[in-house]
Amino acid sequence: MRLEGKVAIVTGGANGIGYATVTRFLEEGASVVIADYAKEAGEEAVKMLDPERVLFIEVDVSDRESVKAMVQKTVDQFGRIDILINNAGITRDAMLTKMTETDFQEVLNVNLNGVFHCTQEVALHMVENQYGKIINTTSVSGVYGNVGQTNYAAAKAGIIGMTKSWAKELGRKGINVNAVAPGFTLTEMVKKMPKEIIEKMTATIPLQRMGKPEDIANAYLFLASEEASYVHGHVLHVDGAIMM
Ligand code: CAA
Ligand code: NAI
Repeated sequence: MRLEGKVAIVTGGANGIGYATVTRFLEEGASVVIADYAKEAGEEAVKMLDPERVLFIEVDVSDRESVKAMVQKTVDQFGRIDILINNAGITRDAMLTKMTETDFQEVLNVNLNGVFHCTQEVALHMVENQYGKIINTTSVSGVYGNVGQTNYAAAKAGIIGMTKSWAKELGRKGINVNAVAPGFTLTEMVKKMPKEIIEKMTATIPLQRMGKPEDIANAYLFLASEEASYVHGHVLHVDGAIMM
């Protein structure tokens, strides 16, 4: 029960890695808010999990007012926020010469601005409580770049810069800030990729398999727990050593 009594917000918690995280955090004793714009999946998740300790709040992380309302509802329901998992994200892959302005802006709006909005709104409460764990989701693409991901790699690299800046600002307020950099992980996001590229890429992973959502959820759990209280400003790679 490593998160007994803690209150966590998991953005993008209705599917994929986020859903695995909600499940894992519940097992460890937390109360969890699924903050997602997928209403049907979010409501279904609450029914499948523990309606006593899970709350679905519909939010678009790219929209400041929507995020403000989500954070207020969380505080109204649970009284505090201990953990923020900035996990919501999208892809709009295209080669550089084919990428539209809309593809570029949409990914930046959700994957970078969304993390800024959520963290800024939640940090106000964490600073007041002099306690918090903020965990951001970057990617192998943000560290090493990736074909077809100008927009996504830019946002994910930006997240690393924000993580380190916030670690410097918020450490003195009792708030740990870290990031997880997943490698290719079996969710809808990866299933959209062309099959032959998935096969070529998997062959280059020393562990010879893609990640499972639970692999990433366990990394979030470690960073959210007291066991990681001296880990700060760190980017934890959970990627089967794809780029080693
Ligand atoms: N790695 C290496 N080479 C790649 C590649 C990749 N990820 N993606 C594309 N290429 C290569 C193709 O094999 C092709 O090579 P050739 O010219 O030698 O045949 C070339 O780039 C052009 O690709 P396409 O012919 O497919 O070009 P397209 O314009 O039809 O499509 C694309 C471009 C949309 C980027 C498509 O190739 C694609 O979806 N690629 C996968 C991109 C990718 O890796 N996305 C990751 C999604 S999962 C995720 O984002 C999670 C995370 O954090 C890692
Ligand atoms: P997914 O597509 O399965 O789930 C993403 C969730 O985010 C969905 O529930 C979706 O509704 C939600 N979401 C998207 N935009 C939103 C918005 N504007 N507001 C609120 N919710 C929104 O994706 P997956 O794979 O679970 O990804 C989770 C995170 O992990 C993302 O940040 C992704 O970039 C990152 N990641 C994923 C990798 C992978 O291989 N799957 C690898 C590296 C990073």
